[in-house]
Amino acid sequence: MLTGKNILLGVSGGIAAYKMANVASMLTKLHADVHVMMTRNATHFIPPQTFEVLTKNKVYLDTFDEAPDDAVHVPHISLGTGADCILIAPATANVIGKIANGIADDMLTTTVLPARCPILVCPSMNVYMLENPIVQDNIGKLKRFGYQIIEPDEGYLACGYEGKGKLPKEEELVERILLACACEKDLSGKHVVVSAGPTEEPLDPIRVITNHSSGKMGYALAKAAAYRGAKVTLVSGPTALEKPIGVERVDIHTAEEMYQAVTSAAETADIVVMAAAVADYTPATVADQKIKKKEGDLSIPLKRTKDILLSLGQNKRQGQFICGFSMETENLLENSSAKLSKKNADMICANSLTQEGAGYQVDTNILTLITKDGTEQLPMMSKLEAAHRIFDKILSLQTPRETEEA
Ligand code: CTP
Repeated sequence: MLTGKNILLGVSGGIAAYKMANVASMLTKLHADVHVMMTRNATHFIPPQTFEVLTKNKVYLDTFDEAPDDAVHVPHISLGTGADCILIAPATANVIGKIANGIADDMLTTTVLPARCPILVCPSMNVYMLENPIVQDNIGKLKRFGYQIIEPDEGYLACGYEGKGKLPKEEELVERILLACACEKDLSGKHVVVSAGPTEEPLDPIRVITNHSSGKMGYALAKAAAYRGAKVTLVSGPTALEKPIGVERVDIHTAEEMYQAVTSAAETADIVVMAAAVADYTPATVADQKIKKKEGDLSIPLKRTKDILLSLGQNKRQGQFICGFSMETENLLENSSAKLSKKNADMICANSLTQEGAGYQVDTNILTLITKDGTEQLPMMSKLEAAHRIFDKILSLQTPRETEEA
């Protein structure tokens, strides 16, 4: 995902510096060209050689470390201007203070100055140091100048205190870099609403009617849209998945709650993708108390839920793109094409439950994209790749709002 990207890691002297070896390794596995700049104090916690082995690049501590033949390239300028993203983590109070005040007295602080790319700063220190108004003022100043601050986690700190100041998990730091620079921001300025996961229809205080949806396809769509710069609202039924970073998640349980949440978010949406497996029926009544078993069988009267996609299609605003999913066990194309016209959708992504590598629970999907202009069969691919192909298609079909308004 980071092929061809130059990522700079600025490591300053906090105990969490050792965790950055894992970050460097994860980024290298994503095919980034990773360069590390360390402060002298950081070398007390992790040797530069660790990063050099992991990244295959020289680690710079000081601008005067530049080798004589580097004079042509001037690394603190070429690294800074050539970077696609810089992450400073852990960022100590000292480094934050220097950058906020334009002090450039080592390789890290000097390289940041000419950079034009997104710069992410993750403060990591003792909770009282972090709360210090001077440190807070410096962090505020960085924010005002467009630096992205990654909030530190709360927990047990190495100094023995409990509180805010921990470096977040390595996966989160990598995710922030992906958000900042993995994709072209071709959904920037757009509001994308995605529904995901199953719904749960209660029978009594203990039981629900639900389905096997894992939410993986919807979460991949939300993530892809966020990578591409969209403002994303993810309306999610109960799943075991973590909220994607950079996405606003609205948690719901029932089909009615999903209807309310999606309809409300759709008021400002440019694109709505209904990837959720919404229950078509819900128990006609919900028992206040647990339904006790009796002799003989039990029938449960069900009533229809609202068809959210149909309602979105009927109330579509000009320029709004409505995309549905279709899960079938037979007559995939015929049944899915019927949903396109019946629900006034702009696209239906059809997947068959009978094909291996498609459907619920798995990490891959095999989709057919159906629009009024025809069908496009996609091969088996990861759900994240499939999500990107869906947005590629939507962008190729969507009439820019500005053109319509002109
Ligand atoms: N959908 C919806 N509201 C419902 C049911 C489904 O918005 N009450 C949406 C799904 O999120 C999906 C699309 O409609 O995007 C198609 O869902 P699917 O379950 O495949 O089909 P149904 O419309 O339920 O039709 P059928 O039961 O006949 O297959």
